[in-house]
Amino acid sequence: MTNNIHKKIILNAFDMNSVGHINHGLWTHPRDESYRFNQLNYWTELAQTLETGLFDGLFIADITGVYDVYQNGIDLTLKESIQLPSHDPSTLVSAMAAVTKNLGFGITVNLSYESPYQFARRFSSLDHLTQGRIGWNIVTGYLDSAAKLVGQAGLKDHDLRYEQAEEFLELAYKFWEGSWEDDAIIIDKENRIFTRPEKVHAIQHYGKFYQSQGVFQVSPSIQRTPVLFQAGASPKGLEFATKHSEAMFIGADTPEKVKAQVEKIRAQTIAQGRHAQDIKILVGISVVTAETDALAQEKYNEYLKYASPEAGLAHFSSSIGFDLSKYQDSETIPYQKSNSIVSVNQRFKENKVTIADLKAQHALGGRYPLFIGSGASVAEQLIHFIDETGIDGFNLTRTVAPESHHDFIRYVIPELQQRGRYKTEYAQGSLRHKLFQQGDRLSKQHPAQQFRCHQHAETSTLSHLDKHTA
Ligand SMILES: Cc1cc2nc3c(=O)[nH]c(=O)nc-3n(C[C@H](O)[C@H](O)[C@H](O)COP(=O)(O)O)c2cc1C
Repeated sequence: MTNNIHKKIILNAFDMNSVGHINHGLWTHPRDESYRFNQLNYWTELAQTLETGLFDGLFIADITGVYDVYQNGIDLTLKESIQLPSHDPSTLVSAMAAVTKNLGFGITVNLSYESPYQFARRFSSLDHLTQGRIGWNIVTGYLDSAAKLVGQAGLKDHDLRYEQAEEFLELAYKFWEGSWEDDAIIIDKENRIFTRPEKVHAIQHYGKFYQSQGVFQVSPSIQRTPVLFQAGASPKGLEFATKHSEAMFIGADTPEKVKAQVEKIRAQTIAQGRHAQDIKILVGISVVTAETDALAQEKYNEYLKYASPEAGLAHFSSSIGFDLSKYQDSETIPYQKSNSIVSVNQRFKENKVTIADLKAQHALGGRYPLFIGSGASVAEQLIHFIDETGIDGFNLTRTVAPESHHDFIRYVIPELQQRGRYKTEYAQGSLRHKLFQQGDRLSKQHPAQQFRCHQHAETSTLSHLDKHTA
């Protein structure tokens, strides 16, 4: 515990390009403005707000597909706006980057339905435009509805999705790390040389899922590879996440279980040849705060009137892959094998959970742990949680938007700062450098290093990189 005493808390806002994200139903609150999600100034205002609170990043979740498992349809999903409609998150980034200097952007993209080349190009371009503030939350998807929408027969098997992800990453690393040398671009007008041809290399990839041959179209951005986020929790997911990711989200549970998960992640990261601290571990939370504990409780009670635990359950049904509307409140939910989020589903095997338990957990429409109180008491609870579990920070969901972010910045941030547990100014540099203080690029231990091209291509030991002599 003692080594955590001065650990500064990493803080991301956790949001989605939609009305309902995690805390369902709160869009009906009279002060909630999330219905404005399709307006650019909703996002630029949010980005600026977060920067006043020195947030490390805005993390934007995303889902391909719709939640159609609960009641075997989408009526409730549409009525309650449970992540439907939801828009592409990457479209928001340039505008938000233009009005901020330091805020990072963690953007979720489901790789299963992307072409690695087009995706790598888009994220490189964003890393250029944001001057190294881009992160990618790597997800593989868990909805049958998504597979059908993109014209596939159904969702691929859970572990096969991770196998495909492994190859997707390898190819993306080749594009980001292996095609261009750092000093390729010289912009020499006199000699009419923009890029030195000998410094740009074709990559080759002939794999099980993907083929590619040629030169990447984007020159190296500040970070080259975006900061990699992941949330794998199944055995296969954990193996993938501890190999590749630089920040991991874990589902919050009791502090004891979170601590055990943190220790597992740290041990597995070391087993992958990396350092234990190469991965920042974050937990999703919701907070309701005000001037005093009593006022915060009052605010919470008021929010409850608008929240929809049932919409929370409908969302959860899609996460686990079976219909929770079939059970009465008092019924224990039986474990059923499914192909969706294996790790979440696992809890029904381990614990007796009733529908009433789930609804109580979803009181505010979402399943994340809730902290209620004055700024001082929330700050104390968060610090305690960090020190007890060994995590590095939080993904803060919104409740009533944008009120809950304003409240957090007004009441909680100063209390964290007074306790020496939150920055008082931004560090300089890219998102990766801000997080690790070790430069803009992936660490030496990261597996992507094997795909890097070296400064002198002639002496490169990389067999898979062809020298490009255009
Ligand atoms: C905090 C958190 C945020 C997540 N955000 C998304 C998301 O935006 N989109 C998505 O498809 N999956 C999301 N997931 C699900 C993960 O991608 C992953 O499926 C899940 O953590 C379980 O891992 P497993 O597939 O190894 O069981 C999230 C998970 C967590 C814990």
